[in-house]
Amino acid sequence: MDKESIQLEPMRAGDIDAAVELVRKAMNEHEAAWARTTLEFHFACAARGLDDSRSYLLYRENERLLGVVGLHKYIWGPPENVWLAWFAVHPDCHGRGVGGRLVDYVEMLARRAGCRKFFVETYDSTAFDKARSFYLKKEFVEAGRIADYLPDGSSMVVYRKSLSP
Ligand SMILES: CC(C)(COP(=O)(O)OP(=O)(O)OC[C@H]1O[C@@H](n2cnc3c(N)ncnc32)[C@H](O)[C@@H]1OP(=O)(O)O)[C@@H](O)C(=O)NCCC(=O)NCCS
Repeated sequence: MDKESIQLEPMRAGDIDAAVELVRKAMNEHEAAWARTTLEFHFACAARGLDDSRSYLLYRENERLLGVVGLHKYIWGPPENVWLAWFAVHPDCHGRGVGGRLVDYVEMLARRAGCRKFFVETYDSTAFDKARSFYLKKEFVEAGRIADYLPDGSSMVVYRKSLSP
């Protein structure tokens, strides 16, 4: 399957519960709660006609939600910078290439939108071992760490990737 052939759909407000449940299964309760806050804020803005510079896509197979991926821009930051956000694949289908195709797809969207610097925030705890290996495989490089970032004492690890035009 080529990079652009994965069928994704834009997330709608009615998808919040399912997307949060996917984040809970793929990550943990804390991340699920923070995902809910982010997504509810995003769709509340959209309902009022406000653009928060965030977007989310879903991947389903046979109507079952298997993947979620988002792009976040800081509305106060450089327009060429973009962050991967709320990226999760259902644990039943890890290692099948779904995550790779989701990231390839949003990377293509970001490049087409003129973004040149692609960042992702993850953590150094064992729960994110897969994610850190995944980002290195996808040609992100570690850009920095912030010690004791999460309530459990985990460090934040930021990766970056340059996007050519
Ligand atoms: C990280 C995650 C999204 C990857 O999704 P996935 O569908 O399992 O990944 P893929 O099967 O597409 O793998 C893509 C590449 O990364 C590599 N990879 C994936 N998991 C890996 C691991 N644990 N160790 C080493 N490489 C790994 C694959 O070998 C593959 O390389 P290839 O294209 O050369 O074969 C998924 O593991 C996940 O949802 N994890 C929990 C949620 C999470 O941590 N999200 C990120 C938060 S920052």
